[in-house]
Amino acid sequence: MAKEITTIGVMTSGGDSPGMNAAIRAVARACAYYNVKCIGFYRGYQGMIEGDYCVMNARSVRNIISRGGTILKSARSDEFRTIEGRQKAAEHLKEVGVDAMILIGGDGTFRGGKLFYEEHGIPVIGVPGTIDNDIAGTNYTIGYDTALNTVIDAIDKIRDTASSHDRLFFIEVMGRDAGFIALNSGVGAGAEEILIPEEDLGLERLLESLKRSKRSGKSSSIVVVSEGDKTGKNVYELADYVTKNLPDYEVKVTVLGHMQRGGTPSCFDRTLASRLCVKAVELLLDGEKNVMVGLINNKVTATSFEVGLKDDHSINKELLRISDILST
Ligand code: F6P
Repeated sequence: MAKEITTIGVMTSGGDSPGMNAAIRAVARACAYYNVKCIGFYRGYQGMIEGDYCVMNARSVRNIISRGGTILKSARSDEFRTIEGRQKAAEHLKEVGVDAMILIGGDGTFRGGKLFYEEHGIPVIGVPGTIDNDIAGTNYTIGYDTALNTVIDAIDKIRDTASSHDRLFFIEVMGRDAGFIALNSGVGAGAEEILIPEEDLGLERLLESLKRSKRSGKSSSIVVVSEGDKTGKNVYELADYVTKNLPDYEVKVTVLGHMQRGGTPSCFDRTLASRLCVKAVELLLDGEKNVMVGLINNKVTATSFEVGLKDDHSINKELLRISDILST
């Protein structure tokens, strides 16, 4: 019979994302509801290795649902990538009496969690928190919606100045090797072109499209570039390339960077975080382990890490087609 769960640990790991605090709150409150002790570890796996933690009750998480970032802080731990690091973390959990862990983070966090479970048998459940939306076991990750809205807001502002000066802007957005942020914000902001890692449309096509824009009487243009795009040129090199080939354009570059990770979480992200984390606690209490929770067709669903981490987060090609039609 599975060991009874009386203490659940929680941590946030990898790049922070808006809604992580709502997730921590939901774990702490669900634990309080079910009469389970809750321990928060600081700086993700690093805090587990160092035994850096705090006991959390329902009141420890007051007024954090609306705050960006993560009160537990986040880190990418190199030490946890080693067998010795994971051993230290397991020893600390045993010392503190933690029976199971909820890991809030992205694919790197989940890969670490899977290994940790396989080596030490401590039940873990992953909750997808990353702005990149690149986890197969969920339609949406916590933070993605807020990041999209931040990007849209920034692009709208850039559009104002682009249009006042008749300029072409290349705007680089995050996403690591996934194009979700670029594609959706590009369509939402009415970009003329969107460059994503999943679909290399080639530089010739970019030039052709910009020439067409000019001919059709457009005065300003926005090209959204995902940081992982496959043109082989970074955003500055792309700008130089276009300047050289289309001297009529006055080209500018904006890299949005880490502003995309901050800010007040949207209602969608807060609700998503709340739903996923209550479920994560309930699953652990029901004896579930080694899975991630995600939202699939608006239903909170548990998926094995194996499947949840599959590299099949395919892009919505329909959006590329829509973008083509609407940038005419
Ligand atoms: O995974 C989230 C993310 O913001 C990616 O979009 C980006 O590539 C990466 O993290 C940046 O990481 P760091 O904050 O460590 O520079």
